[in-house]
Amino acid sequence: MLTDYSRIVVAYDHSALSKKALKMAMNLAKQDKIIELYVVMVQQPLRPAPYSYGYVYVSAQEAQREEIQAIRKDLEEELNSLQNKTGTVLLEGNPGQMIVDYVRQNDADLVVMGSRGLSGLKELFLGSVSHYVVQKATCPVLIVK
Ligand SMILES: Nc1ncnc2c1ncn2[C@@H]1O[C@H](COP(=O)(O)OP(=O)(O)OP(=O)(O)O)[C@@H](O)[C@H]1O
Ligand SMILES: [Mg+2]
Repeated sequence: MLTDYSRIVVAYDHSALSKKALKMAMNLAKQDKIIELYVVMVQQPLRPAPYSYGYVYVSAQEAQREEIQAIRKDLEEELNSLQNKTGTVLLEGNPGQMIVDYVRQNDADLVVMGSRGLSGLKELFLGSVSHYVVQKATCPVLIVK
């Protein structure tokens, strides 16, 4: 049954629930070496603050890029503890759409993600990204809460 899900994608935004989703996906992958695991992070383009000068915007973007590279390096180290084929993927654009496109283009069998993410609002069960992916993904979605 697990090998039906032999290519797993984790949608990762560095929130507590996405960390939990990663742990769960890694535990699934440990069951069988044949399972491949890819961690997908989608960077959203920063909106320039009103009246900000060009270089302020560029340095904010640069800071964001450096932070993401540091997170990515840590993720890769963590993934290297598995015997499975693994990878990290950095995409740019609308997170929900990019995750759904990635899953379709790479023929993934399962997406693992958190119910909520970085915005941390608790009123609704699903955030906008998890809501979108559940609706549009071409494969099953495991929502971690
Ligand atoms: N930029 C992203 N890249 C990859 N995965 C993401 C991204 N944003 C969210 N996710 C995934 O979606 C899950 C749910 O996050 P979501 O963004 O839907 O909720 P939220 O941040 O609480 O609310 P919202 O963003 O709608 O204000 C996260 O736990 C993570 O697994
Ligand atoms: Mg969010």
